[in-house]
Amino acid sequence: QSVAVLGAPFSRGQKRRGVEHGPKVIRDAGLIERLSGLDYSVHDFGDLSFPVLEKDEPYMNVKCPRAVGAANKMLSEAVSRAIGAGHTLVMLGGDHSLAIGSVGGHARQCPDLCLIWVDAHADVNTPATSPSGNLHGQPVAFMLRELQDKMPDIPGFSWTKPCISSCDLVYIGLRDVDPGEHQILKNLGIQYFTMRDIDRLGIQRVMEVTFDHLLARKQRPIHLSFDIDAFDPSLAPATGTPVNGGLTYREGIYITEEVHKTGLLSALDMVEVNPILGAGHDAVEATASLAVDVIASSLGQTKEGAHASIDDAA
Ligand code: ARG
Ligand code: MN
Ligand code: MN
Ligand code: MN
Repeated sequence: QSVAVLGAPFSRGQKRRGVEHGPKVIRDAGLIERLSGLDYSVHDFGDLSFPVLEKDEPYMNVKCPRAVGAANKMLSEAVSRAIGAGHTLVMLGGDHSLAIGSVGGHARQCPDLCLIWVDAHADVNTPATSPSGNLHGQPVAFMLRELQDKMPDIPGFSWTKPCISSCDLVYIGLRDVDPGEHQILKNLGIQYFTMRDIDRLGIQRVMEVTFDHLLARKQRPIHLSFDIDAFDPSLAPATGTPVNGGLTYREGIYITEEVHKTGLLSALDMVEVNPILGAGHDAVEATASLAVDVIASSLGQTKEGAHASIDDAA
């Protein structure tokens, strides 16, 4: 069992500086040590270094298209290589536009993957529906086959190919969905669970339905794309677009524990940790340490300890 950790210090998918330091603060919170303690062989591939583009004019209302396109192309190649070499991939962002490269590179090796998107936001705006023009609110639109006729030719993205269908995706934690996104979710019949759904059903039932939806017909690799802003801002304050009424600690960790239990986790994104935005050092440390808990529990850490010999005997 081997895990590849890949940092993607990138922030051009949104306008707040600081999220490019996510990989550093997540590592500083002890990620590598925690994963090594879980009996994985951990390969830290370090951080990618992305080209700086001098001129990157908006296209329609899309901001920094060439920088986001180039960074994601580079990321997709690195992710594809790591998955092809047999590692479970952990991508540290950076903003959520990086999912274009992460999911895209994963899909090149595992065309039958499914995607679990844990987030306050649906990130499925197209350039035409996006209220902000920020690409971190649009990554899923690049992936979905059903949306390709709505996607213009954006400079920097000629390399992208849609890689999932609407039935391969489940959202958990939504509570800030733009009108155009809501229409897309409804039109395509995408399975999603808002915070209100979690209130009503409970997180256990939500996970049952999620796996029923994605895995009932066949077992297949899971890509878990985890935006730290899925958690309540009281737990994860250091992030660019916080929204009140988010996941509790246990709800978030229950999601990752259940994903681990499937034995199918193949790649994980941890994005939108922004150390410049916490109200002080403690807020940043709490957010980064929560990100490490999410990653560790996705990979099998449980609070009672993960000891193979005991688990096997049980
Ligand atoms: N829906 C808003 C937009 O399109 C916010 C997206 C926030 N995305 C994120 N990855 N935090 O701009
Ligand atoms: Mn979000
Ligand atoms: Mn997001
Ligand atoms: Mn052990």
